[in-house]
Formats: sequence, structure tokens, C-alpha cells
Amino acid sequence: MSRTPLIAGNWKMNGLMREGLALSKAVAAGSAQLPGIDLVICPPATLPAAVRPALAGSRVALGAQDCHPAPSGAHTGDVAAPMLAELGCRWVIVGHSERRANHGENDALVRAKAKAAHAAGLGAIVCVGETLAERDAGHTLAVVGRQLAGSLPDESKATDVVVAYEPVWAIGTGRAATTEQVGEVHAAIRRLLAKRFADGAALRVLYGGSVNPANASELIGLADVDGALVGGASLKAESFLAIARGAGGSLV
Ligand code: PGA
Repeated sequence: MSRTPLIAGNWKMNGLMREGLALSKAVAAGSAQLPGIDLVICPPATLPAAVRPALAGSRVALGAQDCHPAPSGAHTGDVAAPMLAELGCRWVIVGHSERRANHGENDALVRAKAKAAHAAGLGAIVCVGETLAERDAGHTLAVVGRQLAGSLPDESKATDVVVAYEPVWAIGTGRAATTEQVGEVHAAIRRLLAKRFADGAALRVLYGGSVNPANASELIGLADVDGALVGGASLKAESFLAIARGAGGSLV
């Protein structure tokens, strides 16, 4: 099963207009040298409209970091999926561990957000991952399995869902999971997807958590890893593009 590698940049709450524009332009320019790889940047909700023209005609798609499950309504401060679609977003991250931890998001809410994304014509990048305490207790596969079961809509398809495995303890710590750890969890995720979805073998599963240019090709080169969700290293065009080149090295 050949799956096109996907490298997604999660800028988190970083980037004023000037930096966001410069970063988008540099990533778009560099993407011309990366045929065969899908690239997505997910700037903060203030920026998609501004950076969209910089991505026009490039291989880089626009994404967002979160959406509300409702298409509109009395939800102060939230952003709805149709609003993101209107700004030119093609993807939205849902269930990132920072939202699960800081905003109390649970699997049912994440699933509702993914469904809202689909209803608006967006693909959902659905994040799962265990905490260090859960890993130390030997619960990693159970936790990730439970999150996947609860967070993915039943009608998920390879064209509109990407799973991102991001161990919480690896995010922003400079301590990526080992290839053994990633290999074990991704193999388990792939089995679960194949069992549940008709085209489960075609769904892409990304690794995220301290991915950088030095470790990218080794991690993304693993059999069940189809790309990366990149935080800190996506804030510099050179490192984001170097990671994408690392993914290209795994193309056969
Ligand atoms: P990091 O973040 O690459 O900075 O570890 C990854 C993420 O949170 O998606």
C-alpha cells in the first residue's frame, strides 16, 4: 500500500503577520523541490487569510489547529469549520494533546470536531498519544486504542482523516520517541485502522513529538509511519523543509 508522505507544521500560538507571511513564502518556495510529498502548514487562526496567497500554486496546503463541533452559534471565542474552509483551509488538527490537557477535550468532543471538519469539506488530523505516566504504567497501547476508537468518526476515509501519534512526553521536550516505541505503536494503530475501516490500509499515520531534521528520516522511514506532525521545527522554513526532505528519503 503506497501512501503519500505528509509533513504537517503545527505553528501553535506563534506568528504575527509578518513572520507568518515570511515563513509561508519560504515554505512554499522550498516545496517546489519536494515532489511526491504533501505539505501542510497550520498557522494560528488569525493568519490563514493572510498567508493563503503565498501558498497559491505551491504544494503546500493550508490547515488550522482546532475547530468547534458546531457550524455556527453562541460560542464566544471559538472558530467553526466552515469559517476555516472559507479561508482556504483544507485540513484541521483536532484532539491535540495541548487541547485535551488545557481545554479538557475528550474523545467524544474530538470525534464531533472531526465530523464538523468533514461536513465543511475539511480533512481532520486526529491526534492521539499517551502521557509519560500512562507509558510507565504499560498502558500505551490501551490508551491509544481507546483514543482512536473514540475520536475517529465511523465514516472516516483515507482522503479525509490522518491520524497523528504524538506521545505527550515527546512534545516540545526535545526527546522524541525511539524507533522501537514508534514502530510498536504505529503497527498497533495500523492494525486497528485496517480492522475498522474499509480503506484502513490507505489511512496515513503521522508521528509527532520533537521531530527535527536529524531524526526525521529515521522516524519517517519506519514502515508504518507516513510522515510527521511538526511543532517547534516547523517555525523555521529550513528545518521544516529539511524534515520533508528526510521524508523524501524514505520514498521507494
Ligand atoms: P514538537 O510539537 O514538534 O514541538 O514536539 C509537536 C506537536 O505538538 O504537534
